[in-house]
Amino acid sequence: MKKINMADPHFDEDDRKWIHREIDAILDGALSMGPNVRAFENEFAARVGVRHAIAMNSCTSALEAALLAKGVAGREVIIPAETFIATGMAVHLTGGIPVFAEISASSLCLDLEDVKRKVTSRTAGIILVHMAGLLSPEVAEFRRYCDSEGLFLIEDAAHSPGARSAGKEAGSFGHAGCFSFFPTKVITAGEGGMLTTDDDAVASFARSYQNRGRDMEARAEHYLNPGRNVRMTEMSALLGRVQLSHLDEFLGRRRRVAAIYGEALAGAPGMQLLLPDDLECSSFWKVPLLLEPGLDREMIAEHMAAAGIAVDWAYQPALHLQPVFRALYGTSEGLLPRTEELLSRHLCLPCHPRMSDDDAIRVAEAIRTAIEGSARHGLGR
Ligand SMILES: Cc1ncc(COP(=O)(O)O)c(C=O)c1O
Repeated sequence: MKKINMADPHFDEDDRKWIHREIDAILDGALSMGPNVRAFENEFAARVGVRHAIAMNSCTSALEAALLAKGVAGREVIIPAETFIATGMAVHLTGGIPVFAEISASSLCLDLEDVKRKVTSRTAGIILVHMAGLLSPEVAEFRRYCDSEGLFLIEDAAHSPGARSAGKEAGSFGHAGCFSFFPTKVITAGEGGMLTTDDDAVASFARSYQNRGRDMEARAEHYLNPGRNVRMTEMSALLGRVQLSHLDEFLGRRRRVAAIYGEALAGAPGMQLLLPDDLECSSFWKVPLLLEPGLDREMIAEHMAAAGIAVDWAYQPALHLQPVFRALYGTSEGLLPRTEELLSRHLCLPCHPRMSDDDAIRVAEAIRTAIEGSARHGLGR
């Protein structure tokens, strides 16, 4: 039985041949700060439709660079409690104070109405996470709101390269967009991240920051700001370029899998699949669904594992309930009742380019059976 994983990075035969040849060129030339990094940045900026893309060693570094560029020391940054630890950690480590806000039940993305309630004179800006690949349905409203209130908007687009609405891509709505190329993501570079922006000041700060705060305009080695070395290597950029060249093909496959789930699970009892009407709006890093209250998620995951299919829940616990933030900010259960309730019963189905139509049908049938089994078990108790 073919095992279906949550993620399966894909490099075809031609990619491998090209990579092997280009690695020789790297070994004979620049190992760092060479032509692949520059080309990856240019190709990524063109794809997202922004003036600048700055390649880094991770999305976490890109988030930190964006936050430092906008200046958050001692100020509040509003973030969703439904996100990976890196979003909140970047705020804390750059001297900001994370303020956790609710998500919307239909998108699992940050809820603008709740954000408005949490904005105060101490707020510096907002990080919007395009959760599971879905371009936040409110992203344009977020930008308008931020502009009207003098706040910055950073898009945490770690899950969502190529997600678009009305021809505009994730990473082009905010003052900065931050992408991840970790192996489980939509495209990978082994490790790596990209900061996208149309803001010249953010771009020039980020370039300097990733070179230990160096003045990148001066010939002499002058350092203007505190900075780090968070550059991307040539090897990673090479992988990233190959993957980016397949982005549309990968997205086509992911959207096809999502469409099959949509058809096969329409009206399925015990669950609500969270699919946007327009599949272009998501890069479908994963396909989330909400289980009906009372169903046993662990039991459903065990049933799926027995059928050779991985499922997971991203993320649990909610960010404000992670031990580190409980300890730092005194946050606890009940702070965000809606988010806590939604995250207790959400589940993600696998979605990636190595899944065939038959694989998607197999997953849909297995999740139906698993949910029926859990419902029967619940009734029998
Ligand atoms: C929403 C989100 N933000 C940020 C990150 C951090 O990415 P990286 O591992 O490239 O630092 C991740 C990684 O999983 C993520 O899912």
